[in-house]
Amino acid sequence: MVTFSKAKLEDLNSIVAIEQQIFNTDSYPAFVIRQLFDISGDYFIVAKEDDKILGYALGGINTNKKQGWILSLGVDKNARGKGLGKQLTARLVEVLKAENTKEIALTVYPDNPSAIKIYKDLGFEGDEILDNYFLDNEDRIVMILKTNQT
Ligand SMILES: CC(C)(COP(=O)(O)OP(=O)(O)OC[C@H]1O[C@@H](n2cnc3c(N)ncnc32)[C@H](O)[C@@H]1OP(=O)(O)O)[C@@H](O)C(=O)NCCC(=O)NCCS
Repeated sequence: MVTFSKAKLEDLNSIVAIEQQIFNTDSYPAFVIRQLFDISGDYFIVAKEDDKILGYALGGINTNKKQGWILSLGVDKNARGKGLGKQLTARLVEVLKAENTKEIALTVYPDNPSAIKIYKDLGFEGDEILDNYFLDNEDRIVMILKTNQT
């Protein structure tokens, strides 16, 4: 049975391995994952089955703007298509909403239909394209979910 929980220190090696499997040379280095773990607290969620990490969702909050962020989402290639990406995102959205955020933002590559489907299904909207967002000459779409809080 797949369970969802806050990431623990001992989960980080597996998370880094999934990051590298997915994003290759563009993955967050281990030290960045560790530092994000230190500042992200409840906003770092993992999906596990039999103690094996299958995926993760990482968020953050810009408190000045009351804006939550989905910073990273990844599911092991062998565990995709079973709803884990959507469940991880939905759970992270709930945690970020509970922090009195006005909106939750994310960016996604325009050619990532499965991620865009998850985000639209959860109510994210927007098709503004920012070019060179990650300083890599690639486009990113910005998507926003309003939380109904002021
Ligand atoms: C994006 C990602 C997290 C999705 O994980 P997942 O566990 O397979 O996602 P889910 O099973 O919850 O949902 C995927 C949805 O996309 C749909 N989908 C899959 N391929 C699709 C395609 N080519 N076009 C449209 N929809 C597609 C699935 O049918 C499913 O929709 P459903 O819930 O209506 O059945 C995973 O593919 C991944 O790790 N990708 C690499 C990292 C990444 O892109 N992260 C997001 C960065 S913004």
